[in-house]
Amino acid sequence: MNKTLPNQIRLELRRQHTSIAEALQDLLRLASDADPRALQLAWSAFERELFRHLEFEETSLFSLAEGAYPDEVRAMRADHDRIRDVVCELGLLCDLHAVRKRAVERLVSMLRTHGEREDATLYRWVDEQAPVETRRHLLRLFMDTARSEFKAGSAAKANAGDRPGTPVSQSRV
Ligand SMILES: [Fe+2]
Ligand SMILES: [Fe+2]
Repeated sequence: MNKTLPNQIRLELRRQHTSIAEALQDLLRLASDADPRALQLAWSAFERELFRHLEFEETSLFSLAEGAYPDEVRAMRADHDRIRDVVCELGLLCDLHAVRKRAVERLVSMLRTHGEREDATLYRWVDEQAPVETRRHLLRLFMDTARSEFKAGSAAKANAGDRPGTPVSQSRV
């Protein structure tokens, strides 16, 4: 393992996988619930988090790993396309209040298989073989993302504090 920067990148990417898997477990619970609004909100949050992760990998990680793992990167990109198709389809079903628990379970399994494959190849490569500059670059990107998310979160809180809250009973979907 490269000792200069121990495995923060692999750990952070794994943390994102865990967080996405947990969001899906919440969705599974809500899929059998009677509250469609709660399911839609949970779905939007899950979709945002998942797509941010996929985009990060495509724009930052895949291009760096392509030289060492061309076939794996191609397969991962194809997986991402399939995942997006399934997620968009389920999102529409969610809007129509017609999403089935079984379909969410299939997505759970699809993401698990993809994540395990990615971890065993690309994440491992980053952890054990990628040049130090590559790892530094990825770490900087994580920090930039965390900083901008923190700023966006603070701005959203400040804006929410500027106006009176809408009573739940009067809010519209
Ligand atoms: Fe991925
Ligand atoms: Fe991933």
